[in-house]
Amino acid sequence: MSHTVDLEADIGEVLLSEAEIAAKTAELGRRISEDYAGRNLTLVSVLKGSLPFMADLMRQISLPLRIDLMEVSSYGGTATESSGLVRIIKDLSASIADEDVLLVEDIIDTGLTLNYLVRYLRGKNPASLRICTLLDKPARRLVDIPVDYVGFEIPDQFVVGYGLDYSERYRNLRFVGVLRPEVYSAHE
Ligand code: IMP
Ligand code: MG
Repeated sequence: MSHTVDLEADIGEVLLSEAEIAAKTAELGRRISEDYAGRNLTLVSVLKGSLPFMADLMRQISLPLRIDLMEVSSYGGTATESSGLVRIIKDLSASIADEDVLLVEDIIDTGLTLNYLVRYLRGKNPASLRICTLLDKPARRLVDIPVDYVGFEIPDQFVVGYGLDYSERYRNLRFVGVLRPEVYSAHE
C-alpha cells in the first residue's frame, strides 16, 4: 500500500472539529464526575481507537479513578466492517471485582464488539458497568445495548481520525472526518 504524504488530503469532510470534540469531552467528564462521586471508578478503554478519547476524557473527570486497557481485534471482516467475532489481544491488568467500571469506547457501529466486551466484563463481577462512547452510529446497530454516555450520534459513514483508523492509518488526525470514498474503494 502506498504511503499517504498529506493525510488531510484524503478527508472529504470534517465531521467533528477538534474544538467540538474537546467541548463534548469536557461535558461528558463533568457528567461522569457528578454521577460517580463517592464510587470506585475504573475506566476501561479498548485499544487502539479509544486512546485519544480515553486520554482526554480521564483528564476531564475530577474524581480519583483507576484506568485499565484492553485490546481486541475482530476475526475476518474487512477494513470497514467488523465481523463480531472478537479476540482478546490484551486483557485487563487488574481485577475489576467490586469496581464501578465505565467502558470507554471510540465508536459503536453494529454493537457486536461492545456486546462481546460487556458480557466479558460482567463475568468479572464489577459493582456496576456502564458505557461511554464518543461516537454512535445507531443506523447500523445489530445488537441493542443501552449506552449511558454518548458524545455524538453520527450518520452511517465510515469515519477516521481522533483514534479511528482505516487500515491502521489516520488515527493521529486531531478531528473526525469522512474519508473520501475513492481512498478505500481502491483497496476493497
Ligand atoms: P462494531 O463491533 O461494529 O460496533 O464495531 C466497533 C469497532 O469497529 C470500533 O471500535 C472501530 O474499531 C471499528 N469501526 C466501526 N465503525 C468505524 C468507522 O466509521 N471508522 C473507523 N472504525 C470503525
Ligand atoms: Mg479499526
